[in-house]
Amino acid sequence: MVLIVKNPATGEVVGEVKKHSEAEIMEALENGHDAFGQWSKVNAHERARLLRNWSRLIQENIGEVAEIMTRENGKPLKESVGEVHYATAYIDWFAEEALRVYGRTIPAHTESKRIIVNRQPIGLVAAITPWNFPAAMMTRKAAPALAAGCTFIVKPAEETPLTMMKLVELAQEAGIPKDVLQVVNGEGPVVGKLFTESKHVRKITFTGSTPVGKQLIKESADTVKHVTMELGGHAPVIVAEDADIDFAVEQTMLSKFRNAGQTCVCANRILVHENVVDEFSEKLAAAAGRLTVGNGLDEQTDIGPIINKKGYEKITAHVQDAIDKGAEVLVGHQYDANDEKEYYFVYPTVLKNIDERMTIMHEETFGPIAPITSFKTIEEAVEIANDTAYGLAAYFFTNDYRVGTYLHENLNFGIIGWNDGATSAAHAPFGGMKESGLGREGGTEGIEPYLETKYVSIGNL
Ligand code: SIN
Repeated sequence: MVLIVKNPATGEVVGEVKKHSEAEIMEALENGHDAFGQWSKVNAHERARLLRNWSRLIQENIGEVAEIMTRENGKPLKESVGEVHYATAYIDWFAEEALRVYGRTIPAHTESKRIIVNRQPIGLVAAITPWNFPAAMMTRKAAPALAAGCTFIVKPAEETPLTMMKLVELAQEAGIPKDVLQVVNGEGPVVGKLFTESKHVRKITFTGSTPVGKQLIKESADTVKHVTMELGGHAPVIVAEDADIDFAVEQTMLSKFRNAGQTCVCANRILVHENVVDEFSEKLAAAAGRLTVGNGLDEQTDIGPIINKKGYEKITAHVQDAIDKGAEVLVGHQYDANDEKEYYFVYPTVLKNIDERMTIMHEETFGPIAPITSFKTIEEAVEIANDTAYGLAAYFFTNDYRVGTYLHENLNFGIIGWNDGATSAAHAPFGGMKESGLGREGGTEGIEPYLETKYVSIGNL
């Protein structure tokens, strides 16, 4: 059995990969478990060296990796190159963090005791990763796992397995043993269940939708696995009255239209003070109208295709619902879709006069749609922004430090961009509050979920 991989810009087949049987996946889990014994004993400096080798090899092959990514995911080649840099930044960061897994000693309560705290790798980690960042979402899980001394098995999204397989091939070339870092292909629910039911897997790490994340958490409960969940978002952007409007527009463009709006941290609701909403909207619409839509392999492309029909239908439904309820289209609302050839393009769309009755104000759109609403007071803006089950990313624009302090202290989101529309970095802790997830990836926090704490109390000294 094989999985057919198609270019979402053209519908052309770009590759096929072997679909693993249940027996093969079970065997891979067994192998990952067996390999843990040895890998966890490899000293941290050697693990760091192997990670650095892996990063170097990916960089040496950046052109090839980026092209594979654009062919299977559709994102513009320049964004794929950017993602490969982002992916290797995680490997570089965690190669360093491998050397900083410290224990400690605790002053004991009698002279005859010593208390020593050790950090140990938790065991075999199973990951499920999404199609929107086929490289970086894997390395930000695999690199800390391997750095900590865990073994790792990953199931990539069915739409984008090729990038991941190339990364795993390069890992082996770098000297990382094959059972330490494995990839298996199959359908999400089937592989997910094998992962969660396996007694060998000690941790599940997932990036994807909130409903799937909840399911994985439930399934992990029976064997009390550790979980890290990076789930959906519904990011608000707040533009205060005093904001530098041109700068706010430029940064909102970065947040909104990266990967054709198919990211969990994308601007989803744009709240602009009523005195500057017209200026901001006109400028955003003008900038969005200048973006070029097309095949990601074309150099001039800024906005690639939507990943599949399901994604396209959700976007068009959100836009139609907003228009039916009174939204004004400033630019876009244009599509190029072909069911037979299986490609779906959505032109960057800016909508004004958005209000709370519209679906787009409550559900993640995952597309290049910028809905704008206005507010009167900063307190009202915070109330609207926090009125969501999600809590991943939020952005705001102000040069008034009192307004900025009020905003960052009162917004219930794990990632805040203050005059910044591009917040992601390997050295910062990425993750959400509420139904956007559990745990953090990246930063010094990013290796913690792969470690257990053990203390030894030595007596009778
Ligand atoms: C995501 O959309 O889940 C990840 C985006 C990022 O890491 O910047």
